[in-house]
Amino acid sequence: MMPHKINRNTEFTSAKRLLQELKSRLGAINEELAPYQIKLILEDFVGLTPSQIRFSDDLDVSREITEKVIRIIEKIEKGTPLARALGYRDFWKDKFYLSEDTLEPRPDTETLIEEVLKKHSNTPPKRILDIGTGTGCILLSLLREFPEATGVGIDLSKGACETASLNAEQLEMKNRAEIRCGNWTDPLKMDEKFDLIVSNPPYIPSSEIANLDKNVRNYDPILALDGGKTGLDPYKNLLPKVKNHLVEGGSIFFEIGINQDQDLARLAEDSNATLIRVTKDLGGVPRVVEISYGDK
Ligand SMILES: C[S@@+](CC[C@H](N)C(=O)[O-])C[C@H]1O[C@@H](n2cnc3c(N)ncnc32)[C@H](O)[C@@H]1O
Repeated sequence: MMPHKINRNTEFTSAKRLLQELKSRLGAINEELAPYQIKLILEDFVGLTPSQIRFSDDLDVSREITEKVIRIIEKIEKGTPLARALGYRDFWKDKFYLSEDTLEPRPDTETLIEEVLKKHSNTPPKRILDIGTGTGCILLSLLREFPEATGVGIDLSKGACETASLNAEQLEMKNRAEIRCGNWTDPLKMDEKFDLIVSNPPYIPSSEIANLDKNVRNYDPILALDGGKTGLDPYKNLLPKVKNHLVEGGSIFFEIGINQDQDLARLAEDSNATLIRVTKDLGGVPRVVEISYGDK
């Protein structure tokens, strides 16, 4: 297909021309992925579906939007992953803005949301704590599911806290989600208690960071990935601390890395807690553990 060069100086571009540009440039990178990428870009940035554009000759796109779309194409051409090029990622039922300080939310993490929903189907939590909140995707998705609840999201990264606050605002949950910046549970008051504590902390062993896929290594911040020598440092830190912030009978869910379930069982015991459930993600990898300080 011949590339259709867009004139970036005119006030409006024909939507058909923009569609052709997307097809030729994204199709040249990955023919299989291009239709999905084009649909997403057009629907989200232009507000039109590819079919609407194909079947109409008189749809125009403003210069500002054309520029935005061209910038996304250019980023993808340079090898930027789609979500980073778009600036957001879908997670659970919402879109979450990303920044260079946030991890790109993963579908595996939705396993944690599912497990919490199963556990709390008859006992909705009123106060939720999410430690290492990143984009805020876990906290805000849980707050969406438990409309009476309020919560706190903590992150050490100031940039991540800003992005999580922005996401809380755009999802109209600013009055229910408080984002605090600091180290693990430090930003909590001594007597602050929650019905549900969740965390997807960094859990990759330091020595494995260099071998990660380049799309992870180059775009996800190291603070969101590196869990220390064995990858378990954050759990060692959190397990003795979270108990003080859990109401009696409250629940704790952690996301874990590959082959960490046995280690988590051991670490839980060291903190007088019990690992009561391990759930696999869609790929069959043990991904979420539930920890209890009470009876099994
Ligand atoms: C694996 S990411 C998870 C982000 C998000 N919850 C998600 O599931 O997409 C871990 C997060 O923990 C944060 N973090 C790392 N060390 C921390 C610490 N000492 N205290 C609080 N947050 C920390 C990172 O900045 C990062 O946002």
